[in-house]
Order: sequence, then structure tokens, then C-alpha cells
Amino acid sequence: TPASADRPASSQTGTRQYSADDDYFAVWSRADALKLRQDRTNTAPRVSPDFPVTSDRVWQWDTWPLTKLNTKTATYKGWHVIFALTAPRSVPFGDRHWYAKIGYYYSRDAKSWKYGGDLFQPGTAFGSREWAGSAALVGDKVYSFYTASGRDNGGVDPNDPLQRLAMASGRIHADKTHVWFDGFRNHRIIAEPDGKLYQTMEQSQAGPIIYAFRDPFVFRDPRDRKIHLLFEGNTAGVAGTYRCTKRDIGDVPAGHEVPEDAKYYTGNIGLATARSDSMDKWRLQPPLLSANCVNQQTERPHLVIRNGKYYLFTISHKFTFAPGLSGWDGLYGFVGRSLRSDYKPLNGSALVLGNPEDAPTQQYSHYVMPNGLVESFIDTVPTADGGTRFGGTLARTLLVSLKGDRTRLVKQLDYGYIP
Ligand code: FRU
Repeated sequence: TPASADRPASSQTGTRQYSADDDYFAVWSRADALKLRQDRTNTAPRVSPDFPVTSDRVWQWDTWPLTKLNTKTATYKGWHVIFALTAPRSVPFGDRHWYAKIGYYYSRDAKSWKYGGDLFQPGTAFGSREWAGSAALVGDKVYSFYTASGRDNGGVDPNDPLQRLAMASGRIHADKTHVWFDGFRNHRIIAEPDGKLYQTMEQSQAGPIIYAFRDPFVFRDPRDRKIHLLFEGNTAGVAGTYRCTKRDIGDVPAGHEVPEDAKYYTGNIGLATARSDSMDKWRLQPPLLSANCVNQQTERPHLVIRNGKYYLFTISHKFTFAPGLSGWDGLYGFVGRSLRSDYKPLNGSALVLGNPEDAPTQQYSHYVMPNGLVESFIDTVPTADGGTRFGGTLARTLLVSLKGDRTRLVKQLDYGYIP
């Protein structure tokens, strides 16, 4: 068992540093989550129900820009490029996850996106659908990371929760009129949960909410110079056997009881490290941060490194908070002094941007770029007549300021502005 996990936290958080392969992990505690409050600085503006649509062919949700390994967005021959989970608009919006494929889009001005089709040739990817990932440009080579979701050749099956991390490399091409890719024939599974650091599908099956082993985010840590992946995982062990620790609970107000079922909520932010710059072999590392007894899902973790500070972001849902806690669908974040450190929740609670109470699922899957711009997709928006409109398209980009351990919503920009 990880010995350093129970080391007492230093009196001043956000100062301790560890190497990537240490077993110390930071904690998002119930005490932190009890401080969740909405105000002007962290509530997203209402999404207007008359939003425009990026592509009328596909639903578009989780979106990531082509980046360099330093996490900054990259352009290729003057083109901006983004990747996104897509499904035909003929599929009911709520069923899109079971049909998901990575599509790509390109643009000259970083906001009028042209949909280019699927990134991978049919039948080449692992899993029965592709879930979120990241893509790094090195020269003219693109290293694409994704979640191989479902069994190989499993067809459309909402009851198949299998998730593995996968990658393939290809090349980007562009001319005056368009962008295209070739390659991506060398798909490989690069990480699977081991049941000791990360929960397996089998271990998860006694729990109430689907487990996670997904959403790889690639980057090079400027300190150790190694290439790493962040991903969403769950604490290893059979669901329901976890015992909430003092650290998980934190310094809660007198009288706060931890409901029995909190033990089922074990989201974490995982780490894997490439053995070399070829990115051929990856090693699972202990998680960077755990939300045991707080939240079951810390999705799409990603990182912004600024002024020597490591801002660790994740998205989460209202319905995945453990009993006795509540939050909003939106963006949460932590700040630390190195990749593995005693991350402290931004703004005290970790909330960076939450959906307004009267539009709780208006947007999701926020992704913070190093320049502080936050892109996300439009999910389900209430309309004036009491109905809803499904989005499946890019939301307005939001600008968030990051200062020390505080964030603040500054303004909204154009739909899908991803420079
Ligand atoms: C977030 C998410 C990701 C996953 C994808 C599946 O919106 O749940 O964690 O990769 O959507 O559609």
C-alpha cells in the first residue's frame, strides 16, 4: 500500500514536491467540497438557445486542439486544427457516446471550423467507439491518444463499460484549401488498469456509477523532461470496499456526517509516463490526486503550467458528487508547485466554472488552454417555451484569469474560438 499517502499534509499546502514515480497523492477532500459556492467569478453565463452549429452532419462534444508537447496549441501551415468526439446527427443525442469517433476540423481564423471527417480509417482503432484524448504535433508527425472504449468489434453496446488507453501516430498534410491526415495504422493499447493503482472494470461492477480509465492528456513536464499522460481513473479495489480516511474527509464542520455510500465515489487523476521520447512504452504511476468519498468522476484531466505553477484541471458532474455533497456540471481545478505535489483546490473548493442553476447541463467538457481560454461544448439548453435544445456543437469560449490559487471569469468570446 502506498506508504506516503498517509503522510501528514504540511501546514502550508501547495509547497511540497515529489517526483513523478513517488506514491504521494494530493486529495480533494469533503471539507474542500463543502466550500463549493457559486458567485459571479465562477458561474458560466447562460448559453443562448439560438446558438449556431459547427457542423450539421455530426454532434460534436469533447474537443481538444492539436498541441505541442508543451501543451500550447499548434498550427500547421497556417491552419488551426481541433479534434472532437463526433457522432452522426441521426443518432439520438443521448446515445452519441456509443457511436463516438474522433473527427477533425480545421480553420484559418481559429473559429470558423470546417469538419474534415473521421481521423482514423474504418476498422483500425481499438474498442467499439473512441472516447476523449489528446494529440501532439512533433515535426509533421501527430501522436494521437484516445480512449478505446468498449470491447474490440463490440458494436453498439451501452452495457459495455470497458476502457483502455490507446495511441496511434500519423502525419498531417495541408494545402491552400484543406488539411488531411494519413498513417494512424499502428494503433496500440498503451495502458490498462492493474487493479492495484487503478480500478479494473471487474472491480468496479459492484458500484453505482460507471468506472473510469479514460481521457489521456499528453504533455512533457518541463522539470523532469519526461513525456507523461494524465487520465481519469478510480481508486483500485472492489467498489464498496474503500474506507474513507481522515484525509479524504478533511477538516469538516462539526456535525458533518459521512454517509455510508460515500465509499463508492473514488475518482482520481491518474498518471502514466513514457519510458522514452519514442512514446512506445508507458508505465502506470500512482494517481496525482484522489477524490475518494468526494466524487466518482474527475474527467478529462489536463494541465496548464504557468510561472512555475502547475494548474491541474478536470471536469465533473453534479450527479457524480458523493452523498452529502453537491456541485455543478463544470470545470474544477487545483494548483501545485510541481507535477506531483500537494495540490490545493483553486478558490478553496476547486470550482472554476459551473453551469447556472437554471441551466444545469447547458455546457460541458471544458478544456483550459495555456492562454486561459476555456473551450467547451453546448449540451442541453433550456428554451423560452419550457423545452430544451440539444447542442452538440462548440460553446462560446470563456476567458478565465489564473492568479495564484484564485480564478475569475473575465469574459465570453466567440463560439468555438480555439486559437
Ligand atoms: C466527458 C466524457 C469523457 C469521455 C466522453 C465519452 O464528456 O464523459 O470522459 O471520454 O465524454 O463520450
